[in-house]
Amino acid sequence: ARPVTLSDLARMKSEGEKIACLTAYDASFAALEDRAGVDVVLVGDSLGMVVQGHSSTVPVTVDDMVYHSRITAAGLGRAFLMTDLPFLSYATKHDALATAHRLMGEGAAQMVKFEGGEIQADTVEHLSMRGVPVCAHIGLQPQLVHKLGGFRVQGRGDAAETMIRDAKLLEEAGADMILLECVPAALGAEITANAGVPVIGIGAGPDTDGQILVVYDILGLSPGRKPRFVKNFMDDAGTLDAAAADYVAAVKDGRYPAPEHAFS
Ligand code: KIV
Ligand code: NA
Repeated sequence: ARPVTLSDLARMKSEGEKIACLTAYDASFAALEDRAGVDVVLVGDSLGMVVQGHSSTVPVTVDDMVYHSRITAAGLGRAFLMTDLPFLSYATKHDALATAHRLMGEGAAQMVKFEGGEIQADTVEHLSMRGVPVCAHIGLQPQLVHKLGGFRVQGRGDAAETMIRDAKLLEEAGADMILLECVPAALGAEITANAGVPVIGIGAGPDTDGQILVVYDILGLSPGRKPRFVKNFMDDAGTLDAAAADYVAAVKDGRYPAPEHAFS
């Protein structure tokens, strides 16, 4: 199939076709997801936890992201490839541009994603004006775990207005996509309705333009207590290919996320 482009993703938003996204960290999982019809593959810095075994994403380096981006790209034929900028690799807009250069050059990423609201608007503009497609990650920002003291739902109460404003400012700065993590479903719906670019949710309810999950979570490969929004597609599917295809189908027809996966 023809490779997915940013304009395809924009068209999917305007036509109401849900965008199915998953993380991948290597060529075999990338190829599995590509066969299943995943639209966007994210080389997430979640690799610090699920691949490297750390308790947060903080220790992940630019070299790690470049390596995993390159080997993931090698498995893709159709899906659009987005790669995370790791912790403090975008502390200034100049750092961000240099990191994005490595991820798009050596790492073959087609878009970069980094965390932060209004404070990142200037960096988003700097990259966007120079031809770097940007996804702005707001809501829960896992790289801030040591400031936040844990992972929890964001955007409750007064914080909702700030987040709505952040999304607007980031879009105006040139963000081509917004990723919204762990927010009440009503806030996910409102930010999506206000946005002119696709909004991809994780724990952000059913009304975002697309969904993303960590691939090992949909395959039941992550033991222990799981976040509310995680669904194991392997139980019913039986094979990796069927599980990935079921995930894509469930996102496309709105069966995932169900009410029990959302925060109120
Ligand atoms: O690193 C990651 O996997 C992510 C997704 C969970 C959105 O940023
Ligand atoms: Na991430």
